[in-house]
Amino acid sequence: MNHWDVVVIGAGAAGMMCALQAGYRGKRVLLIDHVKRPGKKILMSGGGRCNFTNMATAPGHFFSRNPHFTISALKRYTPNDFVEMVERHGIEPIEKAPGQLFCADSSQPIVDMLLTECQWAGVELRLSTSIEHVDVSDDGVTLSSATGQVLADKLVVATGGLSIPTLGATGFAYDVARKYGLEIITPRPALVPLTLDMPWKERMSALSGVSTPTVVQCREGRYRDATLLTHRGLSGPAILQASSHWQGGDEVHINWLPDVNDLFATLKGVRQDAPKRTLGGWLGEHLPKRLAQSMEEWLGLSGVMADYSNQRLEALADQITDFTIKPAGTEGWRTAEVTIGGIDTRAVSSKSFAVQGRPRLHFIGEALDVTGQLGGFNFQWAWASGYACAQAL
Ligand code: FDA
Repeated sequence: MNHWDVVVIGAGAAGMMCALQAGYRGKRVLLIDHVKRPGKKILMSGGGRCNFTNMATAPGHFFSRNPHFTISALKRYTPNDFVEMVERHGIEPIEKAPGQLFCADSSQPIVDMLLTECQWAGVELRLSTSIEHVDVSDDGVTLSSATGQVLADKLVVATGGLSIPTLGATGFAYDVARKYGLEIITPRPALVPLTLDMPWKERMSALSGVSTPTVVQCREGRYRDATLLTHRGLSGPAILQASSHWQGGDEVHINWLPDVNDLFATLKGVRQDAPKRTLGGWLGEHLPKRLAQSMEEWLGLSGVMADYSNQRLEALADQITDFTIKPAGTEGWRTAEVTIGGIDTRAVSSKSFAVQGRPRLHFIGEALDVTGQLGGFNFQWAWASGYACAQAL
């Protein structure tokens, strides 16, 4: 049989969810991927334990030029719906941080669950298959691959964004979208470590592996979480979150002591109570030792607390709580967890995910200009958009 009700291209999170839901609705579904293994990003995700949803999912956790686009799908398929499927397959969700649900040991059970559901729903999976030509007309869909033509009533493109090409990422969805007149919001790597130029690259490199609680701000994004220093620059959840706002030339502001309410007042108190203490010694009690030692050098600290004027203490408090650095760039597509930007959703239905004026063509998942914050939101978008689209096929 070479004529399908639905062909889904991309056997990742969104594509598998869409295929299985369409299968359960009685559709004959073919799911195609160009790699040998489905769900590679699921396997890599969450440090190998897949942060598969976030119970606090709401439209406010997503970036998009079209902020209302996510509302309908997120309402129709909620984190609880996914948790219900996960638990039905005997997978116990582990809440590692408030609302963030992970697998206990490995992401593999999530891929196994989706493949099992696809099988139960009668979905045919065709791996190692590249589509060379796509034609969507009023009469139907024709796809050409090296092994011949595939015909379908509906096409769902679920090939994701550009992050991590070694996991199979391509710009396929953007090419198809452009062909049918959709605009692409320039894709940028996001949830990605930031790199530094000399001398900060060398300074941070010497502290590689140090992680500390911070508040990091870039443009309008402000995140309270850990910053990790690496041999290339800055990483850790607070920096990854801030990277989604970062654009070439932007500064990033780091508060290294987010738990100290008013650092200037605190330091004046230390000077009064312990005038012979060193500021470096005090920092060593509030920051990881290696970071405190380096900070002594960066800030040019010497002498004891009694030597510092109010003006100098105020300036130092500012430097510590509003440490300003201009990253050289990001680590790019090689390590970015997601793509910010993508297919402009203003020409896509938020109910059916069909392209306006071309009802046989649908786009779902990360290929669209919808990007979640860190914490399981991106997978919830993949599940929700896949589910919602399937209801309209
Ligand atoms: P996805 O990228 O999953 O799938 C696309 C599929 O299309 C792939 O199977 C690919 O091979 C296929 N494809 C691409 N081009 C093709 C072509 N030309 N022809 C045929 N097939 C093609 N999110 C989250 O919520 N929690 C987390 O813990 C993490 N962790 C994480 C870690 C790492 C290292 C990465 C890279 C990403 C994450 N994410 C995440 C993000 C999450 O993985 C991502 O948002 C979803 O996988 C997106 O789902 P999609 O199905 O849209 O694309």
